[in-house]
Amino acid sequence: MSLFLFLSFEVLACWLSFCAAESLITCPSSCKCNSGTLEVDCSGLGLSSIPLDIPTNTRTFLFLNNQLNNLQGQAFSNLSALQRLDLSNNFLDQLPENVFRDLVNLTELQLRNNSIRSLDKDLLQNSVLLRQLDLSINGLAQIPSGIFDDLPSLRWLSLRSNRLQNLDRVTFEPLVSLQQLEVGDNPWECDCNLRDFKYWMEWFSYRGGKIDQLACTLPKELRGKDMRMVPMEMFNYCSQLEDENSSTVLDNIGPPCNKGSPTAPKPKTSPDLEEEPSVGCPQKQRYRPVSVRRAIGTVIIAGVVCGIVCIMMVVAAAYGCIYASLMAKYHRELKKRQPLMGDTEGEHEEQKQISSVA
Ligand SMILES: *[C@@H]1O[C@H](CO)[C@@H](O)[C@H](O)[C@H]1NC(C)=O
Ligand SMILES: *[C@@H]1O[C@H](CO)[C@@H](O)[C@H](O)[C@H]1NC(C)=O
Ligand SMILES: *[C@@H]1O[C@H](CO)[C@@H](O)[C@H](O)[C@H]1NC(C)=O
Ligand SMILES: *[C@@H]1O[C@H](CO)[C@@H](O)[C@H](O)[C@H]1NC(C)=O
Repeated sequence: MSLFLFLSFEVLACWLSFCAAESLITCPSSCKCNSGTLEVDCSGLGLSSIPLDIPTNTRTFLFLNNQLNNLQGQAFSNLSALQRLDLSNNFLDQLPENVFRDLVNLTELQLRNNSIRSLDKDLLQNSVLLRQLDLSINGLAQIPSGIFDDLPSLRWLSLRSNRLQNLDRVTFEPLVSLQQLEVGDNPWECDCNLRDFKYWMEWFSYRGGKIDQLACTLPKELRGKDMRMVPMEMFNYCSQLEDENSSTVLDNIGPPCNKGSPTAPKPKTSPDLEEEPSVGCPQKQRYRPVSVRRAIGTVIIAGVVCGIVCIMMVVAAAYGCIYASLMAKYHRELKKRQPLMGDTEGEHEEQKQISSVA
């Protein structure tokens, strides 16, 4: 009897372990699967494609340190339960526009250390729960505007070690939950194109966000300087440039800009050009002349307007004076005559009336 009980217990244990094994039965070959955490780990296997037999209920898929250089658009279409996806340390150079389309529960996406050179702006449009996105150590030269429009939950974003020269403020404005942004180790050009992003950074820091060092590479004057510390006044010339652009477009045909050759002779259009600590090459040649020309124009217009007003005032004053003196003279003459003629006539008439009454 006790033997039978023991045997049946043994059978039950065996059956249980078989069941547990069965849930792992679809684990892709060589990968490690954890049925408790629903994690599939295919890291470091030298694979060049995503296995087709990943369990569809997988929550975490790790595919680090492989040879992946190409992703099919359908690669993750059966894995809509996925929450964490790590494709770091592979050789991906581009991502199909719809590759993450079905990953509606994705909260963490790691694409660190690939060779990604561009991103489609609709790449992340369905992953609205995404909280962490790592794009560091890639070849990105641009972040398309609109790519972060559907990421209201994103808290952590890394763009470290790419080839970014500037960023657009509007691209980052939809990231309302962002707490940390990494932008270091990029060849930042701290010129007018980065001015609006600096405004955004200041607002972001004010809101409590953390941002690492954004060290300028260009222009020379700002090389190595942290963009966060460059005073906003350094960018005042940008609005003048914009004004100039919108008003006189044909004015642009000037001598070619000699960027990067500091020994080149500077044009002697204006004597105070050299002492101006201006930023970048195109501004150097245009900043001063523009403001001087504009200042002269303003003075001339102001002078003309003042002159006209002055002449009108003088004319008005002269007219007033002449009118007043004429009136005064007229009154004086009137007064001189009245006592002689008017008064005697009045007396005469009064006398006449009195006599007639009497
Ligand atoms: C997705 O699942 C279907 C049916 O289960 C299968 O035929 C197909 O190959 C799977 N696709 C991928 C990319 O794994
Ligand atoms: C996403 O997660 C929620 C909550 O965990 C779950 O109910 C839902 O089924 C998941 N969606 C998919 C497509 O797996
Ligand atoms: C990036 O990936 C390559 C190849 O996978 C690897 O050899 C290299 O050590 C990685 N670099 C970093 C910084 O992780
Ligand atoms: C001015 O116009 C030129 C060419 O039209 C353009 O390259 C430049 O970026 C513009 N500058 C500003 C500050 O808008």
